[in-house]
Amino acid sequence: MSDNYSSAGYSGSTKSSSTRVQWSTRMAFILAAVGSAVGLGNIWKFPYITGEHGGGAFVLVYLGCILIIGIPVMMAEIALGRRGRHNPAQGIATLVREAGAHPFWKIIGVMALLCGFMILMFYTVVAGWAFAYVPKAASGSFVGENGDAIGSMFGGMLADPIALTIWMTVVLGLTMGIVLRGLHGGLEKAINLLMPGLLILLLILVGYAMTSGHFMEGVSFLFKADFSKMTGTGFLVALGHAFFTLSLASGAIMTYGSYLPENVSIGKTTMIIAIMDTVVALAAGLAIFPLVFANGLEPGAGPGLIFVTLPIAFGQMPFGSTFGTLFFLLLAVAALTSAISMLEPTISWLTEKFKMTRFKACMLAGSLLWLGGLGVVASLNIGSEWTLFGKTFFDMLDYLTSSWLMPLGGLLMAIFSGWILKKTVMLDELGLSSTIMHKLWLFTMRYITPLAIIIVFLNVLGIISF
Ligand code: PHE
Repeated sequence: MSDNYSSAGYSGSTKSSSTRVQWSTRMAFILAAVGSAVGLGNIWKFPYITGEHGGGAFVLVYLGCILIIGIPVMMAEIALGRRGRHNPAQGIATLVREAGAHPFWKIIGVMALLCGFMILMFYTVVAGWAFAYVPKAASGSFVGENGDAIGSMFGGMLADPIALTIWMTVVLGLTMGIVLRGLHGGLEKAINLLMPGLLILLLILVGYAMTSGHFMEGVSFLFKADFSKMTGTGFLVALGHAFFTLSLASGAIMTYGSYLPENVSIGKTTMIIAIMDTVVALAAGLAIFPLVFANGLEPGAGPGLIFVTLPIAFGQMPFGSTFGTLFFLLLAVAALTSAISMLEPTISWLTEKFKMTRFKACMLAGSLLWLGGLGVVASLNIGSEWTLFGKTFFDMLDYLTSSWLMPLGGLLMAIFSGWILKKTVMLDELGLSSTIMHKLWLFTMRYITPLAIIIVFLNVLGIISF
């Protein structure tokens, strides 16, 4: 048993729940969870969706969603994971059985598995862009180039299915390699270096943005809320992004929670993860928007936003090639630590439920993900015309997961943990230090979170409007 406690991460556990491996320390869990949360969502997605949805008001709604939905749901999800002590599907099924609840609720675990898997199909492709930009930055490709040249560099990359496939395969291979070996040691050390490194580089970029002459324009775009720019879709995207950026309702946090020792406080841990995640996203916004305005770019330019704005800066600033190389390298690593947290739930499900070896499970999941990745690559070039309801395969995966599966999963988890499970089960598991905190969490989970999600859904469906 003591051996299990000393090895962080997980082995391909087919053991009984009582001897399942656990994180070595609270810090190991925090690092892994922060590694999962901080990724492309903060640095690539947050700025571009903020740009598309008009800035300040969107950011405010997003921050509100983190506070009243993301944080309490994350607490619930870690607690459900630890209580279930299995992969998401079997862990939730165990809780449903114990509570004597209707089998319908098992859908929470199944949806989470599916959602993480679907996100990973496009996540490896976008992470591949970050990888591809490392050698570009290192070889000085951005030096002295203007926005147009850098924009066509990005366009050229998207138009090349072979290069995209190679980079996607590299990312998937690395993700599978790390997950295959378990998270012992390596991940903790990597994240220990990564987080401070990423924050320092982002701060350097914010510093550079301050010299651009358009810093205040960037700040007011990010923080001056003009609700006339918000649409119903904007609310849904902000809500979905709160789930995406905190890795919720997609199996990752639940699976990591299932390896968490009993004595760790879930509340404090959640706060640390959410604060780190938010700081990184806001720093990315502060680095990017001043550059957008300084270079006459369009804030709503879409998924290429950081791959166009930041290289312009790297091309102009002193030591730009070095900073650029480091930045894309760190972004690539941040994406990897998120990708492994998306793969682990499926692997733990295949090994626990079907008694597969970790190797077989990785091969099976990896092959399906690779095929999905090919579809995403094609949707950026040769298959950009293949659309369903006007959305390419890539857009569809992103839309279905962030806008529907995750908020819906969050809603079900909130109702399940607030209403269906016995009160004592969750409160016991959360172990909050005061009864006030208990009451606050339970009230939020029962009323605030479900209502907020339902209102956003009804609004986007046009049934109510605000
Ligand atoms: N939170 C990660 C990011 O912001 C993405 C992610 C989503 C990771 C779902 C795991 C599960 O990049």
